Amino acid sequence: MYRDIIKITDREGIIKVIKISVCIGSACHLKGSYNVINGIQKEIEKNDLGDKVSINGTFCTGNCGSKGVAVLVDNKYYGVEPAKVEDFFNDVIMKMV
Ligand code: FES
Repeated sequence: MYRDIIKITDREGIIKVIKISVCIGSACHLKGSYNVINGIQKEIEKNDLGDKVSINGTFCTGNCGSKGVAVLVDNKYYGVEPAKVEDFFNDVIMKMV
């Protein structure tokens, strides 16, 4: 089992790195995973969170039937529609950083 939140200690103290995994399986691909990844990357840049949030693609998470693209954050599943990436980022990620 992998960890979604990795704590890294540096000279400044402890920095929380939030790992976002976006499903790129076939069902999520059709629902717009490419656009969700691009949207999340833009939000990370816009909010200058490149050192606190990482994003990667993952294979099917078993949530294919749900609405939106499967996104895992801190072992929790979210269904994210491409048009609602900004809402997802503000409602979930910004509250964790
Ligand atoms: S293809 Fe994304 S959850 Fe199955």
